[in-house]
Amino acid sequence: MRGIVLAGGSGTRLRPLTTIHSKHLLPVYDKPMIHYPLAVLMLTGIREILLISNPEHLGTYRTLLGDGRDIGISLSYAAQERPGGLAEALLLGRDFIADQPICLILGDNIFYGHRLPGLLREEAKRLDGCTLFGYRVSDPRRYGVATVNAAGDVLSLEEKPERPRSNLAVTGLYMYGKGVADRAARLTPSARGELEITDLNLQYVHERRARLVDLGRGTAWFDAGTHDSLLEAAMFVQALEKRQGIRISCIEEVAYRMGYIDRDQLHLLGKELSIGSEYGRYIADVADECTVPADFS
Ligand code: TTP
Repeated sequence: MRGIVLAGGSGTRLRPLTTIHSKHLLPVYDKPMIHYPLAVLMLTGIREILLISNPEHLGTYRTLLGDGRDIGISLSYAAQERPGGLAEALLLGRDFIADQPICLILGDNIFYGHRLPGLLREEAKRLDGCTLFGYRVSDPRRYGVATVNAAGDVLSLEEKPERPRSNLAVTGLYMYGKGVADRAARLTPSARGELEITDLNLQYVHERRARLVDLGRGTAWFDAGTHDSLLEAAMFVQALEKRQGIRISCIEEVAYRMGYIDRDQLHLLGKELSIGSEYGRYIADVADECTVPADFS
């Protein structure tokens, strides 16, 4: 399975923070937002990743993350000229996808849960058609909303419904089997001029090949697209990290724990980030195995 992080868009709701900067480079406590979705893909076992962003920001992502070699992955880049919708990612990534199954994640979605990596790996293995990940919310009108049967088959999907049929929001994490780029190519723009991910997902729903996994109570999900949600996400990360003495979505640590890099490489990354920074020190400590519990998953 390959992965795509979609990190373009206009970030209107976060202005003036996003007047110059890409939303996904803003800090979420101790690391840039883009690290969180990258970590999710890496924890799923995905090592070939395409990052899509606005042409004016791609250079900064390249400077920050390079070709991914340092963390044992292969990172490539593509530009989205204008925000043409979430499903456009699958068109822009057509050559990259090359008939492989794909996991698409939105660059402003932050997931955390102890059991999440295992769950994602299992879902990647059993993927047939499309798999969505749902989260119960108190304000479903703001989201894509799904209804599912007991087996997890999606029965209906509605985008920002006036009268939601459930409180199960569809998060910004999607898995698709082979042939998804051809399906995306057949989509037509919606009234707002975008290729809608919900239209793509509805194709699978109509074929009864759409599954939704409820992430459940043990997982946290933030869409860090507003000033409040960005702050809430940062505070969540801070609380967890301070309390437990761990770092979450630390891509260098994930690379090490997943076996993408070895201990020496991790040590070097810690040093390069500067042992003087708490983040760099943490990485060096992980390489020395002094701070992190063994049950990392
Ligand atoms: P949104 O939050 O729907 O849009 P946005 O990021 O442009 O923000 P705003 O609504 O405040 O203007 O996008 C969800 C995620 O998808 C976000 O990470 C940006 C990304 N995205 C793209 O990369 N390209 C697109 O064409 C769209 C619509 C979104």
